[in-house]
Amino acid sequence: MDLDRAAQHVGFSTVGRQWVRQLPARDGVQLPDDPESLMEYCGVVDDDRRAMLAARPDPDKDPEWWTIVSALAGSLERDLEQPVPSTGFQGWPMVPTDSSPVGMFAGAWALLSSLPRLVDVHGRRGVPETVTRATVSALGGVMGSHRHIAGRPGVGLIPLWGPPLRFRGADFEIGRHSFTRTQLGLGDGVAGHVLMVHVPPIGPLDPETSEQSIAEAARMFERCYPEEPVSSFICRSWLLDPQLAEYLPEDSNILRFQRRFTLLPAVASEDPHDDDRDMMRTGLSVFAPDGPVLAEDLARVPQKTTLQRAFVTHLRSGRHWQKRTGLRCVAPDAPARPAARTA
Ligand SMILES: CC(C)(COP(=O)(O)OP(=O)(O)OC[C@H]1O[C@@H](n2cnc3c(N)ncnc32)[C@H](O)[C@@H]1OP(=O)(O)O)[C@@H](O)C(=O)NCCC(=O)NCCS
Repeated sequence: MDLDRAAQHVGFSTVGRQWVRQLPARDGVQLPDDPESLMEYCGVVDDDRRAMLAARPDPDKDPEWWTIVSALAGSLERDLEQPVPSTGFQGWPMVPTDSSPVGMFAGAWALLSSLPRLVDVHGRRGVPETVTRATVSALGGVMGSHRHIAGRPGVGLIPLWGPPLRFRGADFEIGRHSFTRTQLGLGDGVAGHVLMVHVPPIGPLDPETSEQSIAEAARMFERCYPEEPVSSFICRSWLLDPQLAEYLPEDSNILRFQRRFTLLPAVASEDPHDDDRDMMRTGLSVFAPDGPVLAEDLARVPQKTTLQRAFVTHLRSGRHWQKRTGLRCVAPDAPARPAARTA
């Protein structure tokens, strides 16, 4: 079935359809024969395993979702082992809210189908098994977040950015953080390699554990990806918004994390509500609206912690939150490696 027609049929918006159209069209996808053991490997809990098995796409019964899952899986295969290019990576958008259970799990089936290839790549690169397991546990993690945020099983009502990168071998969870292999481009081919630093929702952001994770990542990438010498760690997140210092104590983990990065100047965002939504959804795990965060949305944010109160107070005063970018260089005096030739 034609991809665009499939996307239209299941109710993607014009923007969603545009995104689906750029996926590689594939005839079909090889879904795993032993999905239960793979789901278990990916940290998917019993309830979600059952829900996902019941929502396995079938080419005859769900031709539209079958076409979309095949294309999503095709994009993971096409980009296998590729770092994120300097132009960035557009994550997988949410599916229409009235999607069937098969639609809610479409992204999860595409990710799972890529697991055997990913394990093979990690094995060849010498990535420790503990890192592989932690990396793919993002699948179980996102299902847990989905139940919490959307109140139903699946992955479809959360935009997926990290999981597709993990299942194509670009992002790895190493201790407290995950790290994305990213090319630095300055208009004339690849100018260098950086690691994007992420903070998965797996507990407090303790500074010691965070530093251990960064040090371990530096060692692992030097060993496993020697052709991509890492020049710096870059984090882009609501966590680096300096406005948080107006609300959080100096010794909070978030402000201590901020102090370990050099903040880049702010860049105006096209839609000032974007970063409010991102902090609401990613930071606070509260369902965020499509448009501006309105008074009724703020009323849904629990007010138990300093951060929750800060989020609401700040927006009620008419201001916005901002995702910011921070940088820290890796051993600036490290010896240069022979450069790869560029055309
Ligand atoms: C990043 C994160 C681990 C920080 O948590 P932390 O280590 O507890 O942070 P701090 O010590 O700085 O917390 C300061 C205050 O904010 C509260 N807080 C922090 N994260 C919170 C969250 N996700 N939800 C509600 N309150 C939170 C803390 O409880 C504390 O308030 P309190 O003293 O009233 O209890 C946590 O926010 C989280 O898991 N977020 C989700 C993942 C995320 O957003 N990652 C970044 C993606 S770009």
